[in-house]
Amino acid sequence: MRIIVGVAGGIAAYKACHLVRNFKETGDEVRVIPTPSALNFVGAATFEALSGNPVNTSVFEGVDEVQHVRLGQEADAIVIAPATADLLARLAAGRADDLLSATVLVATCPVILSPAMHTEMWLNPATQANVELLRSRGMTVLEPASGRLTGVDSGPGRLPEPEQIADLARMVVAGGALPRDMVGRSLLVTAGGTQENLDPVRYLGNRSSGRQGFALAEVAAQRGARVRLIAGVTDALPVPAGVRVERVTSTAEMAAAVERHRAEADAIVMAAAVSDFRPARAAESKLKKGRDEGSLTAVPLVENPDILRATVLARERGEVPRGTVIAGFAAETGDAERSALEHGLAKLERKGCDLLMCNEVGVGKVFGERRNRGWLLRARPGESAAVEEVADASKHEVARAYLDALGAVTRPLQV
Ligand code: CTP
Repeated sequence: MRIIVGVAGGIAAYKACHLVRNFKETGDEVRVIPTPSALNFVGAATFEALSGNPVNTSVFEGVDEVQHVRLGQEADAIVIAPATADLLARLAAGRADDLLSATVLVATCPVILSPAMHTEMWLNPATQANVELLRSRGMTVLEPASGRLTGVDSGPGRLPEPEQIADLARMVVAGGALPRDMVGRSLLVTAGGTQENLDPVRYLGNRSSGRQGFALAEVAAQRGARVRLIAGVTDALPVPAGVRVERVTSTAEMAAAVERHRAEADAIVMAAAVSDFRPARAAESKLKKGRDEGSLTAVPLVENPDILRATVLARERGEVPRGTVIAGFAAETGDAERSALEHGLAKLERKGCDLLMCNEVGVGKVFGERRNRGWLLRARPGESAAVEEVADASKHEVARAYLDALGAVTRPLQV
């Protein structure tokens, strides 16, 4: 892909260096176009060395090539990070007073803007109106993250991590601008694996990285949803912008967190790889070879609660609103009797939820990987389930398809 990384003049400009690296590492051809004021924060030499391409800021450099026209026409994507309030205003007004804005005006490829500024500037009606206008013209304007800004301030306005911007940008290039179709909706998502203590140093766990659940939460928040993420044990993943995260370790903690928040969500998506069993008793001190031989060679296990099934049953009892959509994942392997898909269809029925994504799992397949594939199974009352195949794609693209399918679920509010 030919990517233009635009950089506007804000303190977060230093993070653009990592964004350029991220695209270069996946083999993309990168051209950096800073605004003149961005060069107050990061020098042109840095961007030239990282991208391997010359860096200009004005249409009056390299005039013989008519740079803005060539760059705009040839780009497969333009990703601007950080986008300042001033740049958003200039783009909304259709101005072309530097190389970056002139190039955007020429381009017909996807444009992804990642704003970063002080909270007051972000929330200012002028900025919000510019964001609305740019979105209505088909550009993707990402929600900023919340957290520490320059100095001691904290609030929405932080630039998301470069890896998050790159993942979302690639998803937009593959599937088009991100719709804001989840505004006003509230989503509860579980992600990651659960761990069950055997003693203070050992545990039973699984290989889940949490990537698919984090991608779901991130894409839903970028589509405008209010998202709460109950995260079990995961790889070191950055918190998605606009998502409230609650950390848990064991299945019992995850079950309790879901129970606390389940009534406030319009949809609940359980992407967590929940440990089905736990040691019947967790030792209070470390089990020792000589002393506790028996406890180490045979560990009696007891079954954990099924959080998904319990939530469906709570909905049947009316403890969860009847209109709440409940969805999950099915990690399956084929065996002598049934294919992975057949196991998934049986699980959809057994669990009684509305949507299930069936993935074929195994060592090196899905868990910890950045890509996913499978089938989206949607329950239909009185009919067999609708099956939609999801081809191999990034976990963000899969998240997008999953949320589309979730939006297609309609539930009667009264039974
Ligand atoms: N799940 C859950 N609580 C459990 C086990 C699973 O909420 N104790 C949820 C998962 O988050 C997922 C779905 O149920 O959305 C299916 O998980 P999976 O591990 O595939 O299924 P299991 O119910 O464990 O069935 P089995 O191991 O028999 O295939």
